[in-house]
Amino acid sequence: MPARTLPPATALDAKRHPLIVTGDPGLLDDLLRLAAAGSAEVRVAPDAVAARQGWMSAPFVLLGADAAAGCVRAGLPARSSVIVVTRSRDSEPPWDNAAELRAEHVAVLPTAEAWLVDRFADHASGPVARGRVVAVLGGRGGAGASVLASALAVTGRRRDLDTLLIDADPFGGGVDIVLGWEHMQGLRWPELVDASGRVSPPALVGALPGEGSLAVLSFDRSELEGVPPQAMAAALDAGRRGRDLVVVDLPRRFDEPEVMALTTADRAILVVPAELRACAAAKRVAALAAVHCPALAVVVRGPAPGQIEPAEVAQALDLPLAGTLRPEPGLTRALENGRAPASTGRGPLAELCRTLLADMKPRRHRMVAR
Ligand SMILES: Nc1ncnc2c1ncn2[C@@H]1O[C@H](COP(=O)(O)OP(=O)(O)O)[C@@H](O)[C@H]1O
Ligand SMILES: [Mg+2]
Repeated sequence: MPARTLPPATALDAKRHPLIVTGDPGLLDDLLRLAAAGSAEVRVAPDAVAARQGWMSAPFVLLGADAAAGCVRAGLPARSSVIVVTRSRDSEPPWDNAAELRAEHVAVLPTAEAWLVDRFADHASGPVARGRVVAVLGGRGGAGASVLASALAVTGRRRDLDTLLIDADPFGGGVDIVLGWEHMQGLRWPELVDASGRVSPPALVGALPGEGSLAVLSFDRSELEGVPPQAMAAALDAGRRGRDLVVVDLPRRFDEPEVMALTTADRAILVVPAELRACAAAKRVAALAAVHCPALAVVVRGPAPGQIEPAEVAQALDLPLAGTLRPEPGLTRALENGRAPASTGRGPLAELCRTLLADMKPRRHRMVAR
């Protein structure tokens, strides 16, 4: 029998191709067959050592049950979209290792074959199938992160982008309030988390409060102190797969779900008021966030009581400057009256958001245009 030739892992772009990690030839054959059925090209790593390269950047990882323990021992970090794959005739699935790696699913073959083919096929429909994830965080409390995140989401909607706003700050009071949507029907985090974190992505977005092309996954006014990483992974995955734009409103502390959002983000924006003390506080946040998201840039928000220049702030933080924000006239009153930031399409926030999203087009239109 001729030896099977696989493209060398380095020949394929790690960001574009799903990663299969298994040293079990039978399981590898099965997975390659399913990938082919879904018209997807894959990268293959036989063990944890080889899997390290591209582990974080692959769009999703299929981890053979044989390699799961090795990946845990090798300290590969938890990430979103890890699927542990096993066969029904093999011994018990490696539940503990799957939990350790925060696996999204344990897929048992042959039962899960059709599901896996779909997963490959979804992916193979091209990079356009993947929404852009923008994480927003503040350099200090009250910096304006939630306002900017909401303004970005509202601008996404105004531009007809299918947009998902994910509230990742359990102590922010609920980002639905920033939109003026606190009375709108639909699921919030507590209901999703009560449902034990197992959510089906397409169903998820449909069950959320939404209007037009914008949906929001928000905390409410309950005492929930955070979400399990699996729930965050499912939300990010649903957003990336089903929406054009996912905006994540992050807190300034980074536990597992926040790290997951940052590692998934295509870009992250740190909002920093143009004040000396805010810069000092932001320096620490920037250092922590940059570890997880290299595409971190700063938005400097005025006024600048000490005449500090945006470029000086960016330089002090050693980050590129993504934009500046003059104070938004009438913002506080608009928020109190339930009017979402940037909803009129006028003012500094709307202007900045349009610039930040300038290169994005709705996927629905792109598909028609082909
Ligand atoms: N672009 C802006 N212009 C004027 N005031 C703002 C702006 N962004 C935020 N603020 C003010 O700062 C407050 C806190 O903003 P918020 O987005 O909740 O901060 P964070 O999420 O960073 O803690 C808002 O309620 C508003 O009064
Ligand atoms: Mg906030």
